[in-house]
Amino acid sequence: MVNIILLGPPGAGKGTQAKRLVDGRGMVQLSTGDMLREAKTSGTEMGNRVAEVMAKGQLVTDDIVIGLIEEKITGNSGGGFIFDGFPRTLPQADALGRLMEKTGQSLDAVIEMRVDDAALVARITGRFTCGQCGEVYHDQTRPTKVAGTCDACGSHDLRRRADDNEDALKQRLLEYYKKTSPLIGYYYAKGMLADVDGLAQVDAVGVAIAKVLDKS
Ligand code: AP5
Repeated sequence: MVNIILLGPPGAGKGTQAKRLVDGRGMVQLSTGDMLREAKTSGTEMGNRVAEVMAKGQLVTDDIVIGLIEEKITGNSGGGFIFDGFPRTLPQADALGRLMEKTGQSLDAVIEMRVDDAALVARITGRFTCGQCGEVYHDQTRPTKVAGTCDACGSHDLRRRADDNEDALKQRLLEYYKKTSPLIGYYYAKGMLADVDGLAQVDAVGVAIAKVLDKS
């Protein structure tokens, strides 16, 4: 069992690869983005605040996301946790370290998915996902076999995200470089960092990640 972090800018392919690890290795995906999108639909004051911040491409406050992760980390970890989109700031990374220690678990690898910004606009603006099973698609590079129907579960509930537009993406990238990229040095110093070429084909990225997992 290994617990890993997938680290990379918006559109790097974290969700796509996390889904493969869930299906292939029985790992458990903990995506703070997905948790926050769920909270958004709750209609509570907190949910409305979160929706506004996310639509602008800004980060939600540390205490909210740390609380969300804390709730999940004591649950079933299957073949290991995949932290997807968390941590995103140094205080979140410190909090994750404390939570893992408190629950007697270890963090085994942090995988940086390297991509260049030019590829991200095309990836993000073409993305859609299945609202039922979470399968990730793309208008050009990974369309569904039958238009409007999820290949994986047959649902017709295909969705686009409110923050998947060029303006919000600019802000999301800025937040990534300002607040999240310092985590690369943080985990390198701890001897936990590995990197993969996120621009390669989806399968090739999967193989590179599997190699890191098998060494951890
Ligand atoms: P979140 O949901 O985490 O979004 P993100 O980090 O911006 O990442 P994405 O989901 O956009 O991209 P991805 O790397 O998963 O790429 P994907 O696999 O889908 O966060 C959203 C918001 O929530 C944040 O802006 C913030 O407001 C808030 N938030 C979340 N966590 C937070 C935290 N910890 N603290 C504070 N705030 C937080 O791939 C993208 C597209 O590319 C798809 O169409 C896919 O088919 C395609 N693709 C993937 N891989 C490849 C490949 N190898 N080749 C070609 N195409 C590919």
